Amino acid sequence: MKSRKIMAIAALAFAVALLSFTGCSNNEVIGKDTDDVPTYKNPDASVNDRVEDLLGRMTLAEKVGQMAQPDQDFLESDEDITKYYLGSVLSGGSSDPPSNSPEAWTNMYERYQKMAMKTRLQIPLVYGVDAVHGHSNVIGAVIFPHNIGLGATRNPSLVEEVSKITAREVAGTGITWTFAPCVAVPRDERWGRTYEGYSEDPALVGELGAASVRGLQGDFSETGNIISCTKHYVGDGGTVGGQDQGDTQVSEQELRDVHLVPYRDAIEAGTKTIMASYSSWNGEKLHGHAYLMNDILKGELGFQGFIISDYRAIDQLEGTYKEQIVKSINAGIDMVMIPDRFKEFISLLTESVEEGAISEERIDDAVTRILRVKVESGLFEHPFVDPSLSAEIGSDAHRQVARQAVRESMVLLKNEGDVLPLSKDIGRIHVAGKNADDIGNQCGGWTIDWQGGSGNITVGTTILEGIRQVAGEGTEVTYSRDGDGADGADVGIVVIGETPYAEGEGDTQSLALSSLDGQALNNVRSAGIPMVVVLVSGRPMIIGRELNNWDAFLAAWLPGTEGAGVADVIFGDYNPTGKLSYTWPRTMEQIPINVGDDNINPLFPYGYGLSY
Ligand code: BGC
Ligand code: BGC
Repeated sequence: MKSRKIMAIAALAFAVALLSFTGCSNNEVIGKDTDDVPTYKNPDASVNDRVEDLLGRMTLAEKVGQMAQPDQDFLESDEDITKYYLGSVLSGGSSDPPSNSPEAWTNMYERYQKMAMKTRLQIPLVYGVDAVHGHSNVIGAVIFPHNIGLGATRNPSLVEEVSKITAREVAGTGITWTFAPCVAVPRDERWGRTYEGYSEDPALVGELGAASVRGLQGDFSETGNIISCTKHYVGDGGTVGGQDQGDTQVSEQELRDVHLVPYRDAIEAGTKTIMASYSSWNGEKLHGHAYLMNDILKGELGFQGFIISDYRAIDQLEGTYKEQIVKSINAGIDMVMIPDRFKEFISLLTESVEEGAISEERIDDAVTRILRVKVESGLFEHPFVDPSLSAEIGSDAHRQVARQAVRESMVLLKNEGDVLPLSKDIGRIHVAGKNADDIGNQCGGWTIDWQGGSGNITVGTTILEGIRQVAGEGTEVTYSRDGDGADGADVGIVVIGETPYAEGEGDTQSLALSSLDGQALNNVRSAGIPMVVVLVSGRPMIIGRELNNWDAFLAAWLPGTEGAGVADVIFGDYNPTGKLSYTWPRTMEQIPINVGDDNINPLFPYGYGLSY
């Protein structure tokens, strides 16, 4: 960044020299010079001067374009970007380039950015993706534990490092914006997005969310820094019954004490963008909530960045599309994740300004916020990929950090007779269970596809492969998915739990173990050998009396691609330090159950976690 700045200055000096050489008078040179390099493109001008200069040059059509964010899947042609002056494009959960490789992502990004560079003012696109646990749409990128696992680490500097690496892998494909961190404070495990939250405790969520913002953004002095998006504002984790996109029925005091806390921390850490929540507060949808967005977020908390809507979320407000646009923009939304009908959006937003339903001041405010983020993040200087970063995607160095994150996220909940750690001299280990040898299952939702998927979806090490790597040379590791053939082994390791889901698809009334898991457990148990159970899941599950049959029990959450980190704990190369960041219920009826509630009798309390 620094050296490019110097180059830009040198180029400017060269242009000035050239103009003087061609015999212009000094005055003319200065006049020409300002025309050639407008203030908004001058990296040495102040952010305010650059933004003000640019805004002053823009037509209404150009301003409205900045506020629109279609999904690339819905562009009819690349020319749409130029023609409609689009300010942003996203790739939603499954909106991948046809061949999903880092190179394909980079090419797609650069193709779109070139179209933005063809516009009159050459305002770069800010491209957004859900890099929520690594660059998680991209095959071959390193996948970190989901936030619930990072919450158990209680380690902000690790979370900062994880986010920094995520940013570098995202930037390695040219992309400059991730819709992360999610700072939901999930209060009900029936919610399908529980794993996206670090903890049920607002203070821990705030601490780790702020660490993530710092890791992603740095101070924008490096090309590997990207823009964070703290989401989903506000109360997404507090809905009745844990219903996704539901209604959070709490007093203003409780909203502030539980759900608003992490936003204060994220803003203090410098988060540049915030996403509004699909959910409602006491019956009123957030996307139309002027009090919560204009007054609290931008007013009281002094948020200077911009607010983006969620995916097709303004469409859930009452009225016609035009009324939905007017309501949400006036309530404080600055950029709309449309994602399909962007032509309609642009013409209706333009009409609403011309008719006075949305003031020009409101448009100027929204566009100023968007441009400020683009300028501050260095996008004007670096609209295209820094190729040195591309080489880092999925590197060993990055995988080592992910493996460390896995180790620290593991929570040891039971260890009768010190069955763990396993000795590396042990004769034979039998591994079983549907989550033992499945990269997709151990990554969970928001991995390659929106909903994630089972099987060999990306590059990584399964838990079984990790056990094979870390076990001693003389140890035999056998495996059967259903637990058959465990007889005669010295120990059984059964890896069970959930299979991938995202958002409302994961809402559930039952967190019981599946019959498939029951079968694997029974088969290993009938071999009469000590049994270690590893649970791969996005939340605590109801394990009931099963626990009595298990000698050791480890919660692995959704560890991502580095399954060897699980093995490091099993064999004692890492002495477990993870602590529950959620209260573990005994029964479904106990939910919601949270630390600080009166008279709770959880299976394992908040903060529980054993070591060797
Ligand atoms: C989710 C957001 C996500 C967005 C873009 C929405 O459905 O709620 O968390 O960032 O889609 O994929
Ligand atoms: C997209 C996601 C989005 C979801 C919203 C999916 O088709 O891929 O990004 O979050 O729709 O319902």
